[in-house]
Amino acid sequence: MQSKVHVQTTINGEAAEFLCEPRQSLLECLRDILTLTGTKEGCNDGNCGACTVMMDGRIVTSCLVLGCEAEGAKIETVEGIAKGSQLHPLQKAFLENAALQCGICTPGFLVAAKALLDQEPDPSEERIRFWLANNLCRCTGYDKIIRAVQQAAREMREVNA
Ligand code: FES
Ligand code: FES
Repeated sequence: MQSKVHVQTTINGEAAEFLCEPRQSLLECLRDILTLTGTKEGCNDGNCGACTVMMDGRIVTSCLVLGCEAEGAKIETVEGIAKGSQLHPLQKAFLENAALQCGICTPGFLVAAKALLDQEPDPSEERIRFWLANNLCRCTGYDKIIRAVQQAAREMREVNA
């Protein structure tokens, strides 16, 4: 049996540590070891975006990142998007626009869309569709998701105006 790796990292602004096998993905570590089950497993091969998290400010598919690569990194997951009981404008807009059905894709869309709006407050529809092209949804047909991102962007611009 392989010995486990001790990983020290930061998740959603809090120090975290865990023991994992060298072969375990960050997705497995988040869900199975740290019980942060908001991040979802879809394809487990880098194609669906359901497992999207931020790592040192970059979007990654956590099924393709090893848990031990989180050593010293700053990880942000969907659990870090709301502020206490206050939903992020994106979460509110997804609910109001019925931009989710089964919800498996939703955490990945939220993390990816937040990354876009954090750096581009007024993206065009084309830009939003391009940015989210790596996130697949089998339920919604995408239009509601795009409308939700546009609504959240508008609301965030008004708050920051
Ligand atoms: S589960 Fe990671 S990209 Fe699909
Ligand atoms: S809501 Fe089911 S996959 Fe997107």
